[in-house]
Amino acid sequence: MTSSAVEIQASTLAGYADASRLRQANDQDWVLGQAPAAPRVHVDLGSGIGQLLETTLERYPSLQRAVGLEQSEHRLREAADRLRRFGDRVRLRQADLTRPEPLEISPDLVTMTSVLHWLFPVEERIFAWVGQHLAPGGTFLLTTYHPARDEHGLGGEDEIVREALVALGTDRALVPRLFAEHDVLPIATRTRDTEGLHRLLELRLRVAATAERDAVVQVGSAAEYEHFHAATFGDYYSRMVEPGLRADFFRAVGEAAWRRQQDRGHVSSMPVRLWKTTTRG
Ligand SMILES: C[S@@+](CC[C@H](N)C(=O)[O-])C[C@H]1O[C@@H](n2cnc3c(N)ncnc32)[C@H](O)[C@@H]1O
Repeated sequence: MTSSAVEIQASTLAGYADASRLRQANDQDWVLGQAPAAPRVHVDLGSGIGQLLETTLERYPSLQRAVGLEQSEHRLREAADRLRRFGDRVRLRQADLTRPEPLEISPDLVTMTSVLHWLFPVEERIFAWVGQHLAPGGTFLLTTYHPARDEHGLGGEDEIVREALVALGTDRALVPRLFAEHDVLPIATRTRDTEGLHRLLELRLRVAATAERDAVVQVGSAAEYEHFHAATFGDYYSRMVEPGLRADFFRAVGEAAWRRQQDRGHVSSMPVRLWKTTTRG
């Protein structure tokens, strides 16, 4: 069976440059507002297509080295194209942040934006890695999303997916079981609450400051959200439906989001928190 264009997009996480304009890219200036004035070495964890590294390389002439650690080969390739013009100031490496490996440099700036939920339940490993690698007095900037959870642990994107599954004929009450049967841990369960995260961070780092604001996603059409979902969540959720129905699933996600946009004036709105942390002692 041939895959539809949106399934191919999801399997390669393609289209993130466009999709991230709806949400993730909006956090860049907010995050870098907490960075040191003249960083020397920046490591971006879960660096995606290299957008944040591109910004720091452009913004800070002091930056001698920018390193991206990222799991997805497709994203690393896109990042390499984007950052080629910066020559040997850039290093990109394939890495699984749930099993972070030692790096032979000591960054004074580490960032990790819109990634932490994918590392649940072993987030402490990356915090330990940051604690070991960050130069004394260096800065680690982290963003985390905090959707409300229902009694099944579903919230945020899970809600939109639930609406799509119901539109495709799944009994609403059976959706949490479908998640469990396919080992799809709800995204709202993957994000710890802020107190739990604070405790976890403080085991390895010192939380110097936090800030919070609303992350609002708005779209102009169902198709726009369909592509945002495929570029951001890939095939994480679509594996809950049989292969022949996957194109319908992505379309139903777009339509569910568009209904919300029309009813509420946005698809989703949830707190996003920025953590500024530094080394202990
Ligand atoms: C929502 S994107 C965020 C990308 C970028 N940091 C940003 O703010 O736009 C999440 C990124 O984390 C990466 N990622 C997820 N799990 C990972 C893991 N275990 N190790 C490394 N990267 C991972 C994904 O491939 C993806 O590029």
